[in-house]
Amino acid sequence: MKVLITGAGGQVGRALSMAVWTKGFDVVPRSRQETDITSIRSIASSLDAITPGIIINCAAYTAVDQAQHSPEQARTVNCNAAGYLAKACAGSGIPLVHISTDYVFDGKKNSPYTETDPAAPANVYGESKLEGEERVRACLGAHIIIRTSGVFSGDGNNFVKTMLKLAVQHREIRVVNDQICCPTAAGDIAEAIIRITSAITSSQNAGHWGTYHFCSKPPATWFDFAAAIFGLAGKKNHPVPKLISIRSAEYPSPTQRPPYSALDCSKIAQQFGIDQPYWLDSLGQVIEALTG
Ligand SMILES: NC(=O)c1ccc[n+]([C@@H]2O[C@H](COP(=O)([O-])OP(=O)(O)OC[C@H]3O[C@@H](n4cnc5c(N)ncnc54)[C@H](OP(=O)(O)O)[C@@H]3O)[C@@H](O)[C@H]2O)c1
Repeated sequence: MKVLITGAGGQVGRALSMAVWTKGFDVVPRSRQETDITSIRSIASSLDAITPGIIINCAAYTAVDQAQHSPEQARTVNCNAAGYLAKACAGSGIPLVHISTDYVFDGKKNSPYTETDPAAPANVYGESKLEGEERVRACLGAHIIIRTSGVFSGDGNNFVKTMLKLAVQHREIRVVNDQICCPTAAGDIAEAIIRITSAITSSQNAGHWGTYHFCSKPPATWFDFAAAIFGLAGKKNHPVPKLISIRSAEYPSPTQRPPYSALDCSKIAQQFGIDQPYWLDSLGQVIEALTG
């Protein structure tokens, strides 16, 4: 079965494209240049050319701060285009795996969010992703929406790469200690998606469609995560700065972020047997790749 991956140039898209897939799947990675999901025509011609059995949408507008100033751009990709993909899947009778975010929540809870907790995004990016989820649900029954959090990898833009870069330029780095999330490696998300894809394409049981949370454990502040990054990077002789713990209010940002966005991942464990990995294990591999 052919698996069309949109947004294959991003962190999760690359991880999925490079992963070892179960036998029987033929992965077709498409970058934005090859399949632009904001173009109905581009989606249609990709479907005609590839005839996939499933689409995995890794394409998104992920510049959270920029989205505050360019809400239309964020909505075009995260909401409208998600709808175009879902409609195209409905028209072709194929399922869609779509990725969403912990930022659909406002972060006012203080225990992990479940899939049934009400969403209330605190910023434009979160709103655009929530609207994207709603479009997918409205257009296509055969969908899986995976909400994840704090994605990192050896590719693209992410917190790990930013920290390592800043450490080369500065002796001190200020990192917020009052936003708790679950950093998650793109490779671990890819593994989860591969397991889900195998399950939904082989099972006759339609009870698995819907929304699932998947992230690593344990929840951590960005300060904790930075400390772990430099703990590992220091062992590889990478420069280690002095880390200064600050409150979000002290950090200049145009964007309100949820103070707490840990996700409860028991539903995905129950339905698909997927356990939460430890982010520290995956971080070790990413630091090794980036500093080795
Ligand atoms: N990054 C995080 O911390 C995080 C946290 C929670 C959830 N998520 C979600 O996880 C998913 C994957 O995130 P990621 O970190 O892998 O994102 P990423 O690295 O920013 O990759 C997104 C990819 O989407 C592509 N793209 C943008 N517009 C497109 C379009 N119109 N058509 C086709 N491709 C397009 C981008 O191409 P260009 O490079 O050409 O722009 C990029 O390759 C997204 O749904 C995101 O919302 C991410």
